[in-house]
Amino acid sequence: MDQPADRNLALELTRVTEAAAIAAARWQGRGDKNSVDQAAVDAMRHMLSTVDVDATVIIGEGEKDEAPMLFNGEVVGNGREPKMDIAVDPVDGTRLTAMGKPGSLAVIAMADRGSMYAPGSLVYMDKIAVGEEAAGMVDIDAPVAHNLRQVARAKGKDVDEVTVVLLDRPRNDEYVRQVREAGARITLIGDGDISGAISTAKADSGIDVLMGIGGSPEAVTAACALAALHGDLQCRLWPRDESERRYALEHGLDLDQVLTIRDLVDSNNTFFAATGVTSGSLLRGVRFYGKSVETHSVVMRSQSGTIRFIESIHRLDWLEEVHAID
Ligand code: FBP
Repeated sequence: MDQPADRNLALELTRVTEAAAIAAARWQGRGDKNSVDQAAVDAMRHMLSTVDVDATVIIGEGEKDEAPMLFNGEVVGNGREPKMDIAVDPVDGTRLTAMGKPGSLAVIAMADRGSMYAPGSLVYMDKIAVGEEAAGMVDIDAPVAHNLRQVARAKGKDVDEVTVVLLDRPRNDEYVRQVREAGARITLIGDGDISGAISTAKADSGIDVLMGIGGSPEAVTAACALAALHGDLQCRLWPRDESERRYALEHGLDLDQVLTIRDLVDSNNTFFAATGVTSGSLLRGVRFYGKSVETHSVVMRSQSGTIRFIESIHRLDWLEEVHAID
């Protein structure tokens, strides 16, 4: 049975990311990355069991660093229709949360069954993302300076007014060098390139383009959001070594292919929800008020293109008693 056209699953998913964010936020700044992840995973798994959906986890997170995770292939939801693929990132920016730094999110995305790209064990992709104004104007194979000129033209500004967000990693040093040479501005983030990719499509974020090598699961998840935002995302698998090259060959993963949003999620029906754990350019983080707690979320659906920002006040006793969320 097809899902009714007016059912916006992303609204239901917001309850899931809210619960994960609240659970993770208790661990903010305590230096314990695994507890951040575990709390978010437990809350997310519990809340997902209440959602009317029969979903298979295609993008689970954690393999890279053996963190607690919702496993790839795990079936979630209460088993009712519709059948969907799901991408989860209980906390994108576990390190940020553990260190008390800004910009971490609890994230979930869904799309029709069979539509999500599975990168297997290849954990990294080279990426470029822009919002709607510059969509179709950039090319991952073009020189950095050219892409920056294109973004500047699309947004009616000079290159030295364009801001590029990059993950602060040695593997991105060459990108940083080229962006500097081209004369654009840089925002380096410690973690969280889902937020970075989405920020390119948010007018007041101050971010114009995401570049550099980040997580593959995060690319698929961000694609579900950028599909709703009419942005552009182009990626290419980035093997770390010879064994990952062999793995790609053996598993039919094309290392030369430029993966577009359509390749990452082949669906007109993507749903995306994220809740801030620590405050950042996209969302405010969780605030505790004794008996209640406040969350900020963004909710998107590609079919309608509606973007909602939801501010919620939750009663902590309800969460603890009914949902067993500490
Ligand atoms: P997690 O917090 O989910 O582990 O991911 C954080 C993150 O910064 C992602 O946003 C990014 O895509 C990826 O890790 C980059 O990987 P690495 O930290 O290995 O460079």
